[in-house]
Amino acid sequence: MVHMLVLFYLWHLVGVFGDGLKSVSVTEGDSVTLNTGLTEIMYEDLILWRFGAKNTLIAQIDVMASSITINDDVLDGRFRDRLKLDHQTGSLTITNITTDHAGLYKLLTNSVSKDFSLSVYSRLPVPVISRDTSQCTSSSSSSSLSSYCLLVCSVVNLSGVTLSWYKGNSLLSNISVSDLSISLSLPLEVEYQDKNTYSCVLNNTISNQTQHLDISKLCSAGTPVLI
Ligand SMILES: *[C@@H]1O[C@H](CO)[C@@H](O)[C@H](O)[C@H]1NC(C)=O
Ligand SMILES: *[C@@H]1O[C@H](CO)[C@@H](O)[C@H](O)[C@H]1NC(C)=O
Ligand SMILES: *[C@@H]1O[C@H](CO)[C@@H](O)[C@H](O)[C@H]1NC(C)=O
Ligand SMILES: *[C@@H]1O[C@H](CO)[C@@H](O)[C@H](O)[C@H]1NC(C)=O
Ligand SMILES: *[C@@H]1O[C@H](CO)[C@@H](O)[C@H](O)[C@H]1NC(C)=O
Repeated sequence: MVHMLVLFYLWHLVGVFGDGLKSVSVTEGDSVTLNTGLTEIMYEDLILWRFGAKNTLIAQIDVMASSITINDDVLDGRFRDRLKLDHQTGSLTITNITTDHAGLYKLLTNSVSKDFSLSVYSRLPVPVISRDTSQCTSSSSSSSLSSYCLLVCSVVNLSGVTLSWYKGNSLLSNISVSDLSISLSLPLEVEYQDKNTYSCVLNNTISNQTQHLDISKLCSAGTPVLI
């Protein structure tokens, strides 16, 4: 699932400060550090980190008072126990990311203002390859058909992903889903005796998962007997 803010809205916000917008992509469950770019913060008075449409203050360093404040009870506690501030650089680390943490983060210090647009992607499962038994009901039992094994690679309830079959390193076929969270399946027909290596790859913009096909294992059971 991809959560991105509408771009022109971002440009509007960036225009107010003008130091730029950095896009950051992260997989659910991972951690991310938003870097201030400062090597030391002694020349700053205040370092402020804000999040979301209401510019909610989530963390701050008062350099003069050498105090760090983490407001992780704000916004329904979605940041609870997930924020860390680096004492030296003021950089903000968010751990165990969920889709609730996607959005715009704003850093403001005396010398720096920066915006970070955080996109959160689903952690991808390994796709599942199975024998396509739905074809078994077709009455045709000609010998030309029976030398083939019908397979299907599938995943459930995902959005923003592509599912592909590869033969060696070459792409054979693919199918994509953008917005809706749906189940995907992609068929493949192989000969029982095929010695090529096949793999099914699931990917989104930032990661992928691969399942290798074992023809002898999947296709042997129920091999049609030629009479
Ligand atoms: C990460 O967040 C999820 C969802 O909020 C929670 O169930 C899980 O226990 C957290 N994991 C860790 C290591 O904190
Ligand atoms: C897929 O989504 C549907 C509807 O949201 C849900 O009922 C079903 O349990 C989900 N299946 C899996 C395997 O997550
Ligand atoms: C899907 O296949 C089409 C046609 O072969 C190719 O142009 C496209 O780049 C492929 N997309 C992905 C995500 O692999
Ligand atoms: C999957 O990877 C291909 C090739 O790297 C890329 O073109 C495609 O956009 C990716 N799919 C998604 C849904 O991001
Ligand atoms: C899968 O991701 C790895 C890096 O994590 C990359 O090297 C590889 O090319 C990707 N494979 C495909 C088929 O996109």
